[in-house]
Amino acid sequence: MEKRKILVTSALPNANGSIHLGHMLEHVQTDIWARFQRLRGNQCIYVCADDTHGTAIMLKAEELGVTPETLIADIKREHEQDFQGFLVSHDNYHSTHSDENQHYSSLIYNRLKAAGQIKTRSVNQLYDPEKNMFLADRFIVGTCPKCKTPDQYGDNCEACGATYDATDLIDPASKISGATPVLKESTHFFFALSNFTDFLSEWTRSGTLHPQVANKLAEWLDAGLQDWDISRDAPYFGFEIPGESGKYFYVWLDAPIGYMASFQHYCDQQSGDDAPVFDDYWKTDSTYEVHHFIGKDIINFHALFWPAMLSKADFRTPTRVHAHGFITVDGQKMSKSRGTFINAKTYLEFLDPEYLRYYFATKLGNGIDDLDINLEDFVTKVNSDLVGKVVNIASRCAGFINKQFDGELASEPTTGLVEEILNERDNIAQLYEQDEFSKAMRQIMAMADKANQYIAEHQPWAMIKDPNKRTEVQQVCSDGINMFRALMIYLKPVLPSLASRAEHFLNVSPLVWDDLATPLGSHKLNKFKPILARLESKDVAKLVEASTQSTPEQKPKVSEPKTEPTEQYISIDDFSKIDLRVAKVINAEHVEGADKLLQLTLDIGDEKRNVFSGIKSAYQPESLIGKHVVLVANLAPRKMKFGVSEGMVLAAGPGGSDIFLVEADNGAQPGMAVT
Ligand code: 2FM
Ligand code: ZN
Repeated sequence: MEKRKILVTSALPNANGSIHLGHMLEHVQTDIWARFQRLRGNQCIYVCADDTHGTAIMLKAEELGVTPETLIADIKREHEQDFQGFLVSHDNYHSTHSDENQHYSSLIYNRLKAAGQIKTRSVNQLYDPEKNMFLADRFIVGTCPKCKTPDQYGDNCEACGATYDATDLIDPASKISGATPVLKESTHFFFALSNFTDFLSEWTRSGTLHPQVANKLAEWLDAGLQDWDISRDAPYFGFEIPGESGKYFYVWLDAPIGYMASFQHYCDQQSGDDAPVFDDYWKTDSTYEVHHFIGKDIINFHALFWPAMLSKADFRTPTRVHAHGFITVDGQKMSKSRGTFINAKTYLEFLDPEYLRYYFATKLGNGIDDLDINLEDFVTKVNSDLVGKVVNIASRCAGFINKQFDGELASEPTTGLVEEILNERDNIAQLYEQDEFSKAMRQIMAMADKANQYIAEHQPWAMIKDPNKRTEVQQVCSDGINMFRALMIYLKPVLPSLASRAEHFLNVSPLVWDDLATPLGSHKLNKFKPILARLESKDVAKLVEASTQSTPEQKPKVSEPKTEPTEQYISIDDFSKIDLRVAKVINAEHVEGADKLLQLTLDIGDEKRNVFSGIKSAYQPESLIGKHVVLVANLAPRKMKFGVSEGMVLAAGPGGSDIFLVEADNGAQPGMAVT
């Protein structure tokens, strides 16, 4: 069959923060898909870059006293290291602040302009007279015009949920200088997105998107598309618009063009017959494929603005946009205070990246529902599936083959099960192709179960005691090894490093999908050495602890406007989900073996709660008895080393002896809601 030529991308991470597990989910998803394509023999080039432009990066560099160029170069090095640590096989990792990106951004803009798709309009916007810059809504704070809560952002009120224009805020102030903003007029450039409603209605339904995503976009399309403001006034860190002075491309205009730029940069470094040619991939009638992997928060940029721009700039549109949901941990958003907002670098200090690659794979489907991560389940799954099922097959069989048969496998399989497992290859391939990784993992583990059952039923460890059954032992164990080999091919896109250790043990050259057509026979194995250690809960606990401690992150004072609320804020609806109750401490004790914890028994009116609280450094247990504290009563119970903690008491302070329990007046009765 003709080999496919595929270009694949992950969304470009912002160059003003560290890579965390949310980014890693996407890059692992893309990487599994890309590695799968390569394993099948397709040419698959995976490019990415840092997304470097915009006000937030400009201000952060200023705050750090460095140039934006220095800041983005430092961050890029960090990002690349993190991705390599997680075995993400980018062929090229570039930057949107590059010559290639400037070239393609200008080219696309000029083509759109020539096609009559760029308009200008005068816009009135709030302006910081001290800093001499226009202010996006996120850089303005003031009092909500509706409920009068102070310190609200320029577009909506976190307290009452009202949305408004920044000009409606009472006592507005620039978040950057504190000055009172003034209204100022300026000419902005718009991309005429409203001309593309028909084109996009068709394009979004043409197989390029999952139906769940197309449905979401239909809401926008049905409401009618607005022209898109693609310019920002100086000062701005970005590319100046050709032919205009003091006008810059909005970061989201040049960000997706960064995919092309990174690919061009890659092409320029390749030589030889197989070297990719930019135009082969990007010309309008190209039969080559372009796949973008993104999070659901940026679908509009990739499935509306981007194809519309490409279609009028004489470039092809993407073959598919693969969107995924967000990570939640135990059903909640990743949280710094709970230690579940984990940076990639911190993870790598404690755990093997392949544990998480596998766990992500067991969670990933092709829709945009959020993916819940549960740290206990993570440990259980990795140990029971990978160590207990897959690697176990090899370790059960290898000893007999090595010691009794000098490493030689039987000439051919005896059980039909080997063929049955090999014959699953088209099904598994289809699941990978369609991003149904969790289904693929389930089927692979079902095969591993069958392989283990087969070995258990034949009991080579018993048969070996009977000299007449030696041949049978060699057969059964060779069958087992063949099944292990097939499973490792299936898992290779997810676990490239484990697969490479398996290849060494199997004494074979790098496995490819086509190897599933034939089993191994009359072949000599290498000595078996353990190829995967168990995942220890204590190492996960260390990771969570380290992530809790590393809370103050290098976040900019201000952040770029986002389509999703940032982690800094929760909505009033989220807040109302928290059940805060007055709780009376009826007992408090030291916990043997715990440095930081006290065990509290709390009365909350109609029930008693057992809570472990990290306040030992500040309180003697006996001093707590009788106090009325505040309990988060509907926090999911947490199994700890010392028992189950049924809630959390509120306290303030930096730590050590400076921890202060939030107390309710003694008049408050246990169980009363704290409002
Ligand atoms: O949302 C983000 O983090 C953006 N930096 C993603 C950009 S993806 C592409 F368009 F460049
Ligand atoms: Zn309000």
